[in-house]
This record gives sequence, structure tokens and C-alpha cells, in this order.
Amino acid sequence: MKIRKICCIGAGYVGGPTMAVIAQKCPEIKVTVVDFNQARIDAWNDENLDNLPVYEPGLDQVVAEARGRNLFFSTAVDKAIHEAEMIFISVNTPTKTYGEGKGQAADLKWIELCARQIAAASDTDKIVVEKSTLPVRTAEAVTDILDNAGNGVKFQILSNPEFLAEGTAIEDLHKADRVLIGGDLNTQGGREAIEALVGVYSHWIPRDRILTTNVWSSELSKLTANAYLAQRVSSINALSELCEVTEADIDEVSRAIGADSRIGGKFLKASVGFGGSCFQKDILNLVYISRSYGLTEVADYWEQVIKMNDHQKGRFAKKIIKSLYNTVSGKKIAFLGWAFKKDTNDTRESAAIYVADHLLCEKANVHVFDPKVKAPQIQSDINYLQSRNQEENESLLSIDTDPYGACRDSHAVAILTEWDEFKTYDWQKIYDSMLKPAQVFDGRNILDHDALRTIGFRVYAIGKA
Ligand code: NAD
Ligand code: UDX
Repeated sequence: MKIRKICCIGAGYVGGPTMAVIAQKCPEIKVTVVDFNQARIDAWNDENLDNLPVYEPGLDQVVAEARGRNLFFSTAVDKAIHEAEMIFISVNTPTKTYGEGKGQAADLKWIELCARQIAAASDTDKIVVEKSTLPVRTAEAVTDILDNAGNGVKFQILSNPEFLAEGTAIEDLHKADRVLIGGDLNTQGGREAIEALVGVYSHWIPRDRILTTNVWSSELSKLTANAYLAQRVSSINALSELCEVTEADIDEVSRAIGADSRIGGKFLKASVGFGGSCFQKDILNLVYISRSYGLTEVADYWEQVIKMNDHQKGRFAKKIIKSLYNTVSGKKIAFLGWAFKKDTNDTRESAAIYVADHLLCEKANVHVFDPKVKAPQIQSDINYLQSRNQEENESLLSIDTDPYGACRDSHAVAILTEWDEFKTYDWQKIYDSMLKPAQVFDGRNILDHDALRTIGFRVYAIGKA
């Protein structure tokens, strides 16, 4: 079966870039991305490509090429479902904040809503693709809803988790290590649905990189991939603390262990802690699932990855306080970076939020500069924690549009995101404008520490004595 019309529900960090690339690579397929958030859809349709709701290097060119040709963004959800042969569900699946499983389980209310909406709006057979990251066996519930709440049409459910990382989404989509498709391999209908999706990806992904599995393996592999990656970051961060007390150097240790081809060099960069919308949420979900099957040791094992990450963020904040003579009340501290990693405007679960919160609890004046994150987002990230009221947050936390202004008259500068431009700043000028002793806390180990010390800075770096 050749697919001619695709609908994707959810125009976020995954739905937007993923569908833009499918449309770019498959000009004969009409791709409609729908979302109930009008402002988000308007931003995707904005003439000025600088206003796209997602910042990703290269995304603007892909959108410019396909939008209006075979890529459309709309709030007309039912219409797009109705005309599509294949529907991707790419809505958010955050950690539950209420009820059973609060703080760990995935909140699947938007998934269920999508399933019901697809069932109601369909009067021809459809292939439904889980693109969102979902707990293993979610397809069972989705199938049950589609089969019972619909109009008697047939649905095939596939799992096709997304492995792109933010900041490199377009590159990752263009040159995916693998595409994973889980489906019902035991039935003719299931195999045909898998082949239909393989047909879409094979426009640009070599066939041997498209893996097909049963649905459950596919669902579980996505949670597992993120858990493995996050575990590597927590492992290197655990060792960074040991380095600081033994005079070993974490970057040297990373290089030494990463050179072993069995270990590999990626994801061994010590940091102030991992962030992002996925790692914490997906590990917590894995912990919850394991515990719900009674697998206590399995749950405890993975939970430790989160505990280590919380510890890393906390100890960075404590290091700043200790170095500023155990009191930061009323002291200006500059934050360079707020996004959870470079080359994205996404701040979800960013380490910066938690480090700032810790310092604000001590009544520090935190001044933030980030090249891509806007002021209202930063204030809302802090307000969301509900550690203080909004007025107090606004009086303690300032957002600067100029990095030199953020650093001027500060006691300390902390690097929270590894934006490349931070390396090229005039650090002598920054030093001259700061209170003395001027201190730098490099939470990403990106600066030239020897050069900073020569200027006169006191420097703390992760995993270095
Ligand atoms: P997001 O919050 O950026 O986007 C989700 C969008 O879905 C929102 O715009 C929301 O308005 C819309 N939406 C929710 N319910 C809807 C409904 N019923 N009808 C119409 N629109 C609806 O989320 P995201 O970062 O794109 O993540 C989506 C999924 O992909 C999650 O399951 C996530 O775990 C997974 N994922 C994310 C990444 C990543 O890097 N962000 C990578 C891989 C997988
Ligand atoms: C992650 C997965 O990599 C991706 O495959 C999945 O689809 C979604 O979740 P993302 O969260 O976008 O992607 O970014 P990633 O590059 O994985 O970084 C996550 C966090 O770990 C960031 O805060 C990053 O700074 C941190 N990190 C990463 C480190 O601290 N050290 C490293 O060596 C690598």
C-alpha cells in the first residue's frame, strides 16, 4: 500500500521537525500536522521563519522547502484525520502530576483523547502510528479504544518511536542510525501496515537501517534507549565528584575510557546534570512500570540514575554558595545559558532551573542570559516549581538580553548550557566588570580554564580538583 496522505497529531518538538522531513523527502505525500494549540500552529505558519515555535538548526530551510507544497499546519484535527491513510500520534506524554502514579507514571490522557478522536473521525481503514514515547503495552489500550469507539473501520497500530535529539533534530532525521517500527508481524494486515511505513522511510533511509519488531519490543526499546543514555551521563557525573577529591581529571578519564571501542566516546561529557523533556520522564516511567510488575530491584537500579542527576545539580549550586563564603543573599550571580543543551530553545527539565531555584532559596539575585530562550519562558519555568510566589521570583530573577550586562557587577558567572558563543566572549572585559574575587563556575567544562585563571578568575569546573 502506497501512502498518499499523512496526518500527525501534535505539532511540537517531535511532530514538527519529523513531519517536515517526511514532507521534504516524500514530495508525493501530503503531510498535515495538526494541533489544538492555535498559537503554535500560527507560529508554524508564520511567514518569518525566525518565529517557528521550535528552534533547530536547519529546520527553517526544510520548512521553507516543503510548507505550502505538501506540508501543512492546521488546527482542523478531524478533517486531517478523516482524509489521511496514516495518522501519527505525536502528542506530549509527561510525567503524571496527580493521582495514581503521580511523579512517575506517564500521563496518557492526551493519547487517549487522540485515540477517541481518530475513532470518531474515521470512516475508512487507517494505520495509526505511535510516535510519542509510551509505556510498554500502551498499544493494547489504544487498539481497544479504536476498535470499540469507532465506526467499524479497521485500524492497524504501529509503534515508531522517535530517536532524534534536540539541537541536532534535522541531522538525526536525515541520517538516522536506525528507524524502529513495531507492528503485528503475525497477521497479513499487520505486515502490510509495517511495509507501508517502511515505504515512507525508505525514501531516504537505507533499508538495512529500518528495524522491524513486535509492538512491545518497539515501545520498550524507546524507554530503554533513553535510560541507557541517561545512565551514561549519571555514571560520568558520579565519577566527576570522585575526580574532584582525588585530582584525577574527568575529561581525561572520559577520553581514556571512551577510547575503548566497547565503551565508545559519546555521552561521556560530565555536566551540571542532564535535562530535557525525555530522560527523567522516561526513566521514571521505566521505574514505575518495573515496580508495577513487582520488580523492585529493577526499579531501584534505574531510579538511581535520577538520584545521581539530582545530586549533581544540587552539589553544583552548593559549590557556588560555599565559594561565595556561604552566603549569596543579595549577591548578583550571572547565569550563561538556560536551555537544557545548546542549539535548542527548549528548557524542559533544564539543570539551570533547579540550580537557580536553589540559589533563589538563598535569596541570591540571579541574572540569566540565553541566546535563544525568551524571558517569559524563564520566569514561567521558575514559577512552575512553586518554591516562592511570582512577585518574589520576579524580584530575585532577572533576564538580560546581553551577556556582558548579565555579568556586570556580579560575584560569579555560572555556565549552565554549552552554547558555543560563550567560548568566544571577551572574558577580560567580563572580569574587569565583575566584583572581586571574580569567580567562574563552568557547569559544562567548555571554557579555557587556564586562560581564565591567567586573567585572574577563580575557576571551578566539574570533575576537576
Ligand atoms: P510537545 O509538548 O513539544 O508537543 C506536543 C504537542 O501536542 C503540543 O503542541 C500539544 O498542544 C499537542 N497536543 C496534545 N494533545 C493533543 C490533541 N489531543 N490534539 C491535538 N494536539 C494535541 O512534545 P514533544 O517534545 O514533541 O514530545 C512529543 C512526544 O514525543 C512525547 O511522547 C515525547 O516523549 C516524545 N519524544 C520527544 C523527543 C524530544 O526530544 N522532545 C524525542 C523523542 C520522543
Ligand atoms: C534525548 C535522546 O538523546 C534522544 O535520542 C531522544 O529521542 C530524546 O531524548 P535530548 O533530550 O533532546 O535527546 O538531548 P540529549 O542530547 O540526549 O541530551 C540530554 C541531556 O543530557 C542534556 O541536558 C545534555 O546536556 C546532557 N548530556 C548529554 C550530558 O550532560 N553529557 C553528555 O555526554 C550528553
